[in-house]
Amino acid sequence: MRIRTLYDIAGQAASRCLTEQLSALYDGDLPLPDSTRKPVVFANFVQSLDGIVSLKIPGKSGGAEISGRNEEDAFVMGLLRAMADAVMIGEDTFRNAPGHLWTAGFVYPKLEEEFVALRAQLGKRSRHPLNIVVSGMGNVNLGDRLFTQPEIQALVLTTKQGATQLHRRYGDTLPAAVRVLPGDSVLNPSDMAALLHADYRVRLLLHEGGPRLFSSFLTQGLIDDLFLTIAPRIVGRGQSGERPNVSGPLALDSEQAIRGTLLSVKCAESGHLFLRYQIAR
Ligand SMILES: NC(=O)c1ccc[n+]([C@@H]2O[C@H](COP(=O)([O-])OP(=O)(O)OC[C@H]3O[C@@H](n4cnc5c(N)ncnc54)[C@H](OP(=O)(O)O)[C@@H]3O)[C@@H](O)[C@H]2O)c1
Repeated sequence: MRIRTLYDIAGQAASRCLTEQLSALYDGDLPLPDSTRKPVVFANFVQSLDGIVSLKIPGKSGGAEISGRNEEDAFVMGLLRAMADAVMIGEDTFRNAPGHLWTAGFVYPKLEEEFVALRAQLGKRSRHPLNIVVSGMGNVNLGDRLFTQPEIQALVLTTKQGATQLHRRYGDTLPAAVRVLPGDSVLNPSDMAALLHADYRVRLLLHEGGPRLFSSFLTQGLIDDLFLTIAPRIVGRGQSGERPNVSGPLALDSEQAIRGTLLSVKCAESGHLFLRYQIAR
């Protein structure tokens, strides 16, 4: 496991965030953005050289298949989860990763205790970030391992219609925490962010996609930084273009394009690139 820094203007001004060991492995510090936003939102994706984030093949549609199960990518994912108060995913991403836990140790078990030490150093109150699944329609499998692990605090954000659907399936007492927000079938990302900040004290939210949920945050200007791994592999868009890119259904014209400012570039010997962009609001 070796990451080399090629360019980094993110780490220069800020005070130290990472532990010594993690900073050595990351080849530099990983400071939070200088933002007054509540919460600060980081997004993390891995894409192929040709911009694809999911193969859309049942059982093989996640980021690991895009990265080629790259160790450095798993480490960066772990690092970001360790820094986060909460990790958020859309229902499709959740459904395609049965048994997955959105914790640092789950993706990079070798450093589980070092990640816990980082959380303690950062003053986090829990060993793991809050795991949040977003579903407007309420088609969430509450029997999944995510909702049965006592050490993981998990939460479903849904609409009134989604909650009705969950009660129909699981009865009056739901086996997981479910919060209802306004919206017929779609939630407003600003409402989600405000609720997480006010009721769950989320200061740093890690957005792990997928593209549809991410695009709704992007259009509302709610993303602070995008961590994007480029895997040196070409997989194609599919016969009918069914394989999505990071921004999914977004369709902006040139004047509306959301600008990114490059903060850091790192690489691994495998040829993977690790980019960090600040996203314009
Ligand atoms: N390469 C990577 O780094 C990476 C990262 C993440 C995901 N992925 C892959 O991407 C694929 C999934 O991406 P996706 O874009 O199709 O799905 P997604 O964003 O993960 O999930 C979409 C679903 O989430 C819910 N949702 C999204 N935005 C919402 C909103 N504003 N309000 C309420 N509900 C909302 C809806 O659920 P309901 O239909 O239940 O209402 C929607 O159908 C998977 O294959 C996953 O493995 C790859």
